This record gives sequence, C-alpha cells and structure tokens, in this order.
Amino acid sequence: MRLDKYVTYAGISRSAAVSAIKAGRVAVDGVVVKNPAIKIDSGVITLDGEAIDGSEFVYLLMNKPAGYVCERNRPDSVFNLLPEKYSRRNISVCGRLDKDTEGMLLLSDDGDFVHRIIAPAKHLAKTYLVRPKNPVTDADIKAFESGLRIDGGDVCRPAKIERSGVDAFVTITEGMYHQIKRMFEAVDNEVLYLRRIKTGGLSLPETLSPGEILRLSEKDLSRIFR
Ligand code: URA
Repeated sequence: MRLDKYVTYAGISRSAAVSAIKAGRVAVDGVVVKNPAIKIDSGVITLDGEAIDGSEFVYLLMNKPAGYVCERNRPDSVFNLLPEKYSRRNISVCGRLDKDTEGMLLLSDDGDFVHRIIAPAKHLAKTYLVRPKNPVTDADIKAFESGLRIDGGDVCRPAKIERSGVDAFVTITEGMYHQIKRMFEAVDNEVLYLRRIKTGGLSLPETLSPGEILRLSEKDLSRIFR
C-alpha cells in the first residue's frame, strides 16, 4: 500500500496525508519518510508520533443509546458517536435499530461481514430484551413459536420467546422492518422498551455503557458465526 493511502487511516484526507508526509510528520519504524508514493508492507507508521491503525477492516460493537438513528448525515446519527479515527472508512451498520431501541449495534467496513450479518438467507439469530405493556401469555409463546403473521401480511419465521419477570427475551432469525414491535402488536400487546443483547453467539457486554464502542477481536467475530 502507498504511504499516503495508509496515512488516511489516521482519519485525514489523501491530500492532507500527502501534506503531512511532505512536512516530515510521518515516520516508518521511527525514520521520517517524505515520499508519499513509497510502498509500505509492514512496520509501524506514525503521524506526529502516534501510531496509525492500518488494518484493512474494522469490526466495532456499539452499545447504541436510545435517541440515535442508524442513518448517516443527521445530527442524531450513530455515526457521530464513532471516534474521528474511523471517519475516512466506509463503515456501515449491520442491521438497523430504531431510534428508541438500545443495545448491540455491529458496524464494519468489511462488506462481506456486513452481508453475513444481515442477509435474510443466513438466518443469523438476534436476541432482544423486551419490556411489553402486558404480560406475555402462554398463547403468545405458542404463536411466536409457530410463526406469527404480522400486519395481516408477512409470516415470521418461528421465534423463541422466554419470560423473565415483567420482561421477555425474544430470539428471531430474520430482520424485518420494526419486526419485534410488529410481532407484539400482532398479539395485541405493545413494546415499551427494546434492547438487542445478542447476535449469533456474541452477547452485548454488560460493562459496555450506552454510547461506548468496542473493537471486536478475531475471537469475538468467530463467536458471532459459531
Ligand atoms: N425490532 C424492532 O421493532 N425494532 C428494532 O429496533 C429492532 C427490531
């Protein structure tokens, strides 16, 4: 990879990277390099003494706070919560959450990864913690498990629902628009609070506060598809 391309991973534009290199602000393994076109295969690249993360892809887990949307270019966008260093990457969310929904939001610039998470044919399980307006009945559990028809149209794949005090854990293997809320409406109930807590085999860490972001490890990634 060319040095100027690598330096853009610091969150700056290509032309800013070229200027920084020419100004002697970039070093490769501690040696200042002023040629933006030089090819880099390995080594520690620093900008103003700070190491630049040149990973091909990044995989992030955000504990999405309520009040944020998954669309870009809005003041209340989850993309505004990402650190500046990711701003030059083409990061997408892996399955949107509603503005009032909290919890596990995966983000990446690896298109294949995003596809594996959201492609309907993959049937990756996603678990939500739901606080319904009315208690979940035995009949609701049966209806969820046998495939609910929502809005008199779409039929959901069988979903698992487990009561936990006043709350319920619901696991679905698809991601239709407002699916959980529509499923509860279909059984004459209403969702008062919704949080995604698990994707595949990876859970939202309890220690991650709303708005906080984790960089996922290889182990985390393999857990998702386990
Ligand atoms: N289902 C919903 O209704 N909303 C979400 O945000 C996610 C799943």
